[in-house]
Amino acid sequence: MRMVDLIAKKRDGKELSKEEIDFIIQGYTKGEIPDYQVSAMAMAIYFQDMTPRERADLTMAMVNSGDTIDLSAIEGVKVDKHSTGGVGDTTTLVLAPLVAALDIPVAKMSGRGLGHTGGTIDKLEAIQGFHVEITEDEFVKLVNDSKIAVIGQTGNLTPADKKLYALRDVTATVNSIPLIASSIMSKKIAAGSDAIVLDVKTGAGAFMKTAEDARELASAMVSIGNQVGRKTMAVISDMSQPLGFAIGNSLEVKEAIDTLRGQGPKDLEELCLALGRQMVYLAGKAASLEEAEEKLREVIRSGKALEKFKEFLRNQGGDDSVVDHPEKLPTAAYKIEVPAKTDGVVAEIVADEIGTAAMLLGAGRATKESEIDLAVGLMLNKKVGDKVKAGESLVTIHANTENVDQVMQKIYDNIRIADHAEAPVLVHGIVTE
Ligand code: URA
Ligand code: CA
Repeated sequence: MRMVDLIAKKRDGKELSKEEIDFIIQGYTKGEIPDYQVSAMAMAIYFQDMTPRERADLTMAMVNSGDTIDLSAIEGVKVDKHSTGGVGDTTTLVLAPLVAALDIPVAKMSGRGLGHTGGTIDKLEAIQGFHVEITEDEFVKLVNDSKIAVIGQTGNLTPADKKLYALRDVTATVNSIPLIASSIMSKKIAAGSDAIVLDVKTGAGAFMKTAEDARELASAMVSIGNQVGRKTMAVISDMSQPLGFAIGNSLEVKEAIDTLRGQGPKDLEELCLALGRQMVYLAGKAASLEEAEEKLREVIRSGKALEKFKEFLRNQGGDDSVVDHPEKLPTAAYKIEVPAKTDGVVAEIVADEIGTAAMLLGAGRATKESEIDLAVGLMLNKKVGDKVKAGESLVTIHANTENVDQVMQKIYDNIRIADHAEAPVLVHGIVTE
């Protein structure tokens, strides 16, 4: 087989066989096929697309390029959740204990990553003592005993995706549905869960700016998962404005605790229930999505979800008293209000720009080497559709410096007040096949 022939084949819109896709991915991972040929292939895929079968084969070729996690020692149906990214997305912190409270094993491998705020692990490290440096044996034991554990990224997972994603980044081929779908699904599949619930975001703060694109990506990922034997479903959700009120690490932990208590922001609760009911259903713990949702509401009402969160923190060395005393979380030195300049209705809170404002405060990493300040961030006091009077606070800035002029300007530039506006629809749809 010669790579140049395979590039020509895809360029001309023909379908690659499984053997051909394996040849490309294995050769690229080993360094036998050069970047320039894989760049050309990525561009050919960008224009010619891939069939559902090719997408599944590409995904599995990337899964097989490195280690995979074996969760077979964990009893029960392991369900993972993945979000395509957004601003102030506190769902994992809520969902993990919420679902585990229904005896569904949550074996979460998580990263730190770049972004407006830290990843799930950074957020959890706002809790004194909490750590994710546990062995795989401890991880399995914790999930079997307690139904919930989080471990840092281990092993050499999907090296082909790492190389290919970096290459796509500099060859204008990131934005391709088959390439995005196989990239995301390869990582989820390598991480070992039996079932996967996807939260595909749409809007300013998302990868997919329109609901149609988000639906197409969701369908592509659901199709891949189901073809390779992992039960997969997706929710398409709004990310035009940040989710919930909190954007920042400690602030989001507090928001997650409020939500587990049944006192969180409406949109965050709604999305957690929409994703959670799919997880419960796929885990086989409910006969319908309605029954699944009722079970989730019950563990919030009874306090079982909050107890599960405490148990999870204790198991991994964390101080569980923060749940009842959130003032023990790292707290910023200054709270600075951003008053509205006019009366009206909040019409827009541009998610990605507001996320960048939080990052400027130090809530997220601009580069891999950046240090995160767990205490800082933003609290939205208004959401799209809310009435506001001049002088009322739109946002509270939690900062460790008094000099927040640039952040304040960014907030003003990205919150629009108009005469009329309505809250956006949060859940745009569900994709099951
Ligand atoms: N996120 C990924 O992991 N891969 C992509 O290709 C795009 C977004
Ligand atoms: Ca939030």
